[in-house]
Amino acid sequence: MLETLLQLPDDPILGLMAAYRKDPNPLKIDLGVGVYKDETGNTPVLEAVKQAQLHHIQTETTKTYIGPPGSPGFGTLIEALILGADHPVITAGRTNTLQTPGGCGALRAGAELIKRCNAGATVWVSNPTWANHIPLMGDTGLQIKEYPYYDRATASIQFEAMIATLEQLGPNDVVLLHGCCHNPCGADLNLEQWQQVAELAKARGFLPLVDLAYQGLGDGLEEDAAGLRILAAAVPEMLITASCSKNFGLYRERTGAIIAISSSPVARDITHSQLCNVVRAIYSMPPAHGAALVEIILSSQELTALWNSELTAMRNRINDLRRLLVEKIEARGIQQDFSFITRQKGMFSFLGVSPEQVRQLKADNSIYFVESSRINVAGINAGNIDYLVDSLAKVL
Ligand code: LMR
Repeated sequence: MLETLLQLPDDPILGLMAAYRKDPNPLKIDLGVGVYKDETGNTPVLEAVKQAQLHHIQTETTKTYIGPPGSPGFGTLIEALILGADHPVITAGRTNTLQTPGGCGALRAGAELIKRCNAGATVWVSNPTWANHIPLMGDTGLQIKEYPYYDRATASIQFEAMIATLEQLGPNDVVLLHGCCHNPCGADLNLEQWQQVAELAKARGFLPLVDLAYQGLGDGLEEDAAGLRILAAAVPEMLITASCSKNFGLYRERTGAIIAISSSPVARDITHSQLCNVVRAIYSMPPAHGAALVEIILSSQELTALWNSELTAMRNRINDLRRLLVEKIEARGIQQDFSFITRQKGMFSFLGVSPEQVRQLKADNSIYFVESSRINVAGINAGNIDYLVDSLAKVL
């Protein structure tokens, strides 16, 4: 049976990791996969995580099954981090949070839940969106369509066109929004725009699904969640998927969450039973370790303060690199305007070069990034920025 399978190309994002590792060029630069890197190019284990790990080793008493919803303690803490502990949907008992294997596990669980509610639903994703959103949602059989989002010509959001599409939607539609630090374009809605989307969701009855994978890496923990909090306060139902990969640096520990906001506490309990049943049939239950560390950090004032300072340092480094890159490009005499990079948030921006130029930079200069021209800004450092800008100048 397996003989009938056909060879597939490498994953457009993860495939870059393997190609970069194999490249012997000492000048090679990895701007591919969205992982934070420090000035030495390393993706560090955060100090708060190390301390939580030590504490965990000393206090863990069992390795028995954790159960489909994961740790309830983690659920309560992550929900408060995302929505704010006193958000009206929490105080009204309308939320329901499950620990998941990363943000991907949350997205697939959300898609399966949507399918149970309405197998004919359409999931609307931004054009462009994170490449893996499409299979994570679409492989369930749900229909995927795109709403306009980023205009490459002006390097900004096409908000009017986005709204014009959302105005046509209704109760059979799900709209997937990026909570902050849009992947791949780095262009985020402002609070007024979130408010407009919220009013539209309420008026038209579509279900918002907010994917929050980079909380704390844009403007700050509170600021990055402000838009989704507006939305959650306005609509009767909503899904939020979240990841602790980037902000806690827990990538390989697969730590995430899905928050389902229901219209009432009774509907909340029903949704909970369905979500537990959904995940039991996919991965049974999430891995425990990463979420245990997040729980330890968020339960301790001291570790939370340490984690906050480390997260702030990551965010500041990325924002400094954005400014430095634009300064270096201007200083190099490149005429094309790249100033939009300083206005965008999080790890990613489109460089705005063609797929041929991306391939050329890889082949000639060993600079690796996604063919859409998405770069991971965190992959830049003092040691590689001049080589990067010189190489860019050559292809431009
Ligand atoms: C990315 O977009 O590079 C990250 O979210 C990693 C991934 O799984 O694609």
